[in-house]
Amino acid sequence: MDSAVIQSLVERLDELLEQYEEPKLNSRESALLRGTLGGQKYTHLSQEPDSALAYYQPGYIGKVIAPPLYKRLTRVLREVGVLKPTETLTQKKAPEYLSRLLDFPSSPAECSAESERDSELFYWVGRKSAIAQCREKLLQDCRILEILGITGIGKTFLTKRLLAEPALKSALSEVIVLNFESPRTSFETLVEMLLGDALSGNPELYGKYPERVIRALVTELQDSPHIVILDMVEESLESDGEGQIRFNDCRFTQLLEEVLRVATMPSRIILTSQIYLPVLNEGRYPLRKYGVTLQGLDEEESLELFAKREIIPSSESALYCLKRIICAHAGHPLTLRTIAGEIREAPYDGSILAYWNDYGSEIEGEAASNNENALFVPRLDCYSPQLTDYVKIRVEKSFDRLLDSAPLAAYLLAMGATYTEAVPRNFWLDMISEYPQNEAKLAFLSLQRRFLLNAVRESDRVFYSVHPLIRRVALENVDRAYARIQS
Ligand SMILES: Nc1ncnc2c1ncn2[C@@H]1O[C@H](COP(=O)(O)OP(=O)(O)OP(=O)(O)O)[C@@H](O)[C@H]1O
Ligand SMILES: [Mg+2]
Repeated sequence: MDSAVIQSLVERLDELLEQYEEPKLNSRESALLRGTLGGQKYTHLSQEPDSALAYYQPGYIGKVIAPPLYKRLTRVLREVGVLKPTETLTQKKAPEYLSRLLDFPSSPAECSAESERDSELFYWVGRKSAIAQCREKLLQDCRILEILGITGIGKTFLTKRLLAEPALKSALSEVIVLNFESPRTSFETLVEMLLGDALSGNPELYGKYPERVIRALVTELQDSPHIVILDMVEESLESDGEGQIRFNDCRFTQLLEEVLRVATMPSRIILTSQIYLPVLNEGRYPLRKYGVTLQGLDEEESLELFAKREIIPSSESALYCLKRIICAHAGHPLTLRTIAGEIREAPYDGSILAYWNDYGSEIEGEAASNNENALFVPRLDCYSPQLTDYVKIRVEKSFDRLLDSAPLAAYLLAMGATYTEAVPRNFWLDMISEYPQNEAKLAFLSLQRRFLLNAVRESDRVFYSVHPLIRRVALENVDRAYARIQS
């Protein structure tokens, strides 16, 4: 069992014991459980010099320390419903029975907190003025909103946040999302989504008469207020050979220009892109189009991002180090989220200082030595390949560490990375169904705990996907991950 998962199970048991007013695990009991979940026998435990059980006879552990512990845990776990009344916790059964806790919310209150957490927006922080500006523009006559910025800066997340704005929700009831990362996404997809059934009675709208399709789309957008999200538009752009960029399918340009041109347009289109977008209608209708370029989060917002992910400095020096981490990454949210996941996991277990001691000099030092003792503060403008590379390197390092500490989880991430769509947890578990179910569940939990998955709840189901940048890194390393779990 992965050490991070063992840690979370032990923490969970402690919470349960406290909830049922039982004494928490003492250091010997905690060492016993950690060792047992890690597959160690009592003889091993008594030989570990750093363990709280070092130098205890195996017989003493088995006869004196273990029985009251298992008895106490059996009582509590039966009460919570994790164990049936006929089941008893023993050393042999501990891994199987205790891993059930992974699927088991400990109280109704936690249940709802967890489902709130499943909603990605629970983790949203800051960007108040960007939200307010975008909302106001969209409620006025701004028909096209462009959200620009480097990978992982929060463009897609901002569109989701905007969709949750009550004023926009009530003004624009129909939502259509097109993600160009998927190679299957094309202009036809948009036509299909917007016109749907209307097309089947009118097949000539396809291909033959593009201007009629554009007309039909614009009419639909005028008749019922939609909000259309065109996400990762950079994937659908190409160079025109004269230093400008354009849509690789000119019908997108025609449609967008028409949306800007017509006299009334209640629908809104939001585009996200890592690179600047083509100029439309030669820059006419400036009030009908608005662009925001996202920078990193500021220090306060970044601290809140960490706090929401349970990384809270417990001393002045920890706060100081966290601020340096934030500054070194210019508040880049995807990188900070990945770092939060690492700090939370073993061996750091939430200790910012322990993480800083290991990586602080790497985070600041490498760049400083390149820049002759100037502290490296990456720039976050749209065209900063330097930062994009830097962010990718940080994500690659996180992947390497995941591969070291939880190889099956790294392999699962690489397998899951082959999907661009979000899929349910069972689907993820099936990707590694050749492994025991417990191990597969733990691998999935490792990814969740490290914040490597994006969770989206749709009515009663939760779907999990991987951020495009993390996905790219995972896909590049799929062979290494496979070799690692085979070894
Ligand atoms: N304002 C925010 N508050 C909290 N977390 C954020 C915020 N913005 C971004 N994040 C975190 O960063 C992650 C990456 O953001 P997002 O997917 O929106 O990036 P992106 O700019 O769309 O990247 P790409 O160009 O690669 O698609 C989010 O899933 C979220 O975890
Ligand atoms: Mg995105």
